[in-house]
Amino acid sequence: MSEIKNHKKLFIPGPTEVRKEILEEMSHHMIGHRTEEFSSLFGQIKPKLQRLFYTQNDVLVSTSSGSGFMEAAIRNCVSKKVINCVCGAFSQKWYKIALSCGKQASKIEVEYGKAIKPQMVDEALKTGEYDAVCVTHCETSTGVFNPIEKISEIVKKYPDVLFLVDAVSSMGGTKIEVDKLGIDICLASVQKAMALPSGLSVASVSQKAYERAKTIDSRGYYFDLLELQKTYEKNQTPYTPSISHLYALRKQLDYIVDEEGLENRFKRHRQMADFVRNWAVENEMKMFSELGYESDTVSCISNTKGFDLKSIKQELLNKGYLADTGYRTLNEKLTQEGKPTTFRIAHMGDMQMTDIQDYLNEIETIFKRGK
Ligand SMILES: Cc1ncc(COP(=O)(O)O)c(C=O)c1O
Repeated sequence: MSEIKNHKKLFIPGPTEVRKEILEEMSHHMIGHRTEEFSSLFGQIKPKLQRLFYTQNDVLVSTSSGSGFMEAAIRNCVSKKVINCVCGAFSQKWYKIALSCGKQASKIEVEYGKAIKPQMVDEALKTGEYDAVCVTHCETSTGVFNPIEKISEIVKKYPDVLFLVDAVSSMGGTKIEVDKLGIDICLASVQKAMALPSGLSVASVSQKAYERAKTIDSRGYYFDLLELQKTYEKNQTPYTPSISHLYALRKQLDYIVDEEGLENRFKRHRQMADFVRNWAVENEMKMFSELGYESDTVSCISNTKGFDLKSIKQELLNKGYLADTGYRTLNEKLTQEGKPTTFRIAHMGDMQMTDIQDYLNEIETIFKRGK
């Protein structure tokens, strides 16, 4: 009980706040994962996930965080060599995952804060060296939305190349039309814009991706997409899943898809993002992310006025908010370069405009006191 009283409202870019109804949904009694009851639960989740992803592809579920599916995408889909589009800490991690899985990998790299441009991907794919490209849709460390629509037009010119997209911090907060964009694997963690407790991830998988997996022997065990596919068809999972999460996922998908509605949800995220960006400018600060590529789910702001973010964070904690003071390694790099550090404001999940307004008012009061 005291933990609930002490709960700090999360304004960090994940995990995000989870509504009480969803937390309660996690407290169902356990059921056997090989029962009809389980298959019925899983069977209800599948079409709702497909609507969220705008796809007819399977949308697999894994009891792991999103990093698990990042590894799965690499293990199952890269045969020849992968090109990783790196523009921040998480896209860099995907490159490292590729190397640690023993794959051949190269990167297209832009300065952190900038977005990957489609022609860069074209230049790389033209070489014929690659059979997969990894793009991080929302680079959470820098608040950048990479232009996956435009990049998809490029990738479509190369039918042997699989398009792998990390939508960990954007799925559920903005429209990602998986089938229209021809995304072969689109992966997401549920603790971000889907506003569920952490510990589960979801990924759509195209037929082309399954076909590629068939040609690869060392797909590993836990993240073997072909095993996941086999059981998915029977409304099951290969191993014991987090059943509590699945109850919560079903309820939250009902809310996202039917109650709030996808278009309304995306509009709310856009409005919150616009509000935060305007607020930053009004307070004489600059967005760290490249103009025109700012994320709808998380804003990364340059602390150009040199506010003492550590003490502001403490003040906000005292008021019941958990604030973000920027991605650590990015800020260390910026400090070394003598540049202003960054902080992020998450506006994703089930957060409402009034939550953001209250939070920004608190920060502004602290700013005005000259911290
Ligand atoms: C863009 C992005 N990719 C990957 C990850 C890793 O996801 P997880 O922590 O769910 O494994 C994160 C986590 O914050 C992220 O923001």
